[in-house]
Amino acid sequence: MSVDPDKKMDLRRSELFDFQGVSMTHFFTDNWENIQNFQARPDDILLATYPKAGTTWVSYILDLLYFGQTSQERQTSIPIYDRVPFLEIMLPSMESGVDLANNLPTSPRLIKTHYPVQFVPKSFWEQNCRMIYVARNAKDNVVSYFHFDKMTLTEPDPGDWSSYLHRFKEGKMVFGSWYDHVNGWWKKKQTYSNLHYMFFEDMVEDTGREIDKLCRFLGLSPSVDEKKQITGGVQFDNMKKNDMVNYSAFPVMDFKISPFMRKGKVGDWKNHFTVAQSEEFDEDYKKKMKDPTLQFRTVI
Ligand code: A3P
Repeated sequence: MSVDPDKKMDLRRSELFDFQGVSMTHFFTDNWENIQNFQARPDDILLATYPKAGTTWVSYILDLLYFGQTSQERQTSIPIYDRVPFLEIMLPSMESGVDLANNLPTSPRLIKTHYPVQFVPKSFWEQNCRMIYVARNAKDNVVSYFHFDKMTLTEPDPGDWSSYLHRFKEGKMVFGSWYDHVNGWWKKKQTYSNLHYMFFEDMVEDTGREIDKLCRFLGLSPSVDEKKQITGGVQFDNMKKNDMVNYSAFPVMDFKISPFMRKGKVGDWKNHFTVAQSEEFDEDYKKKMKDPTLQFRTVI
């Protein structure tokens, strides 16, 4: 995905609007018809997340599991967002996510989405595709999203932290409410058995264990050496300095404001929430998160 440098100036911060009951920006709805008509194949793997839950991390793990041994060139010359296309994205003067996905030469095709479960194109369900959902605790998720929105110049203006936090609780974020998103996908897991639900916090706690679980789900059995290589390659510090996965070449981000690979921690929310904000957040959280089977950790 490359962008014409002269067109870069056309990129403006977008506005949120209600799209079928979900807050969205036009970059992720402009191509709606083509997205909904996307023809999934039975071996496609769909990686779904609420933004900032660890999408890139798991994208890279999947890419290494499937293609890490096959092509060195892929690893050194194709950025992760081209290897694992973002299905719904449509940015000015860039190839759309649908076109990128349709042009993928690989099998399986690894495809990423931030859509809430009800927006997933129907062919993925019809083809019984494997899906991986990654969820992250709400407090760290909103902090990460705040920094991302500051540095990503196509996102709505995040404003100050306290108003941003308010908006998050109201679900007025791109891709809607975090609460609806994590619950919607969790509920889906009860009826759709080809869905593997993962947690960012588990990944930080023991990446190797979570890769093992992922491999069991995918029916993969990497060698000990391969597994070691992958676990090492996907560590935060290694990904941060890997230009093919750290988004340094992505045109709409301003790394002077914040890096994409920012901290990669569980509990950074404590550096952002005041005590009062945390208490209010917890009160509101209890009202919204009624399903006792879906539990998040805000510390590990
Ligand atoms: P922070 O902003 O808290 O650092 P996404 O890929 O969904 O946009 O998520 C980005 C978040 O995942 C960022 O969180 C980023 O630092 C974190 N992340 C990415 N790779 C990681 C890794 N290998 N280990 C830990 N965190 C990682």
